[in-house]
Amino acid sequence: MEEPTIAAKEPKPLELAPGTYYWCACGRSAKQPFCDGSHQGTGFAPKAFEVTERKRVYLCQCKRSANPPFCDGSHQKLQTPIERNPRSETGACLQTRARP
Ligand code: FES
Repeated sequence: MEEPTIAAKEPKPLELAPGTYYWCACGRSAKQPFCDGSHQGTGFAPKAFEVTERKRVYLCQCKRSANPPFCDGSHQKLQTPIERNPRSETGACLQTRARP
């Protein structure tokens, strides 16, 4: 199977209400970090997950987390040194400028 597309090199912080959510595993969704059906024909499928009480989450957008749909810091291995923010507890980036 091909590698998933990297949607972003930082997690998406969200405050989620109780419910069922479908995390995009392929990285092609235009509604990151959630599935919009763009995985059709790719061999990827969304990952359903439940939220039982309102809480803040950090959802993976690099699609390399070993604990999907949650960020495990794997995006930091994909970043150049200038993109890393060593002071961030989530590893979120300070800079997201495009590379030449
Ligand atoms: S759009 Fe990516 S898994 Fe559905």
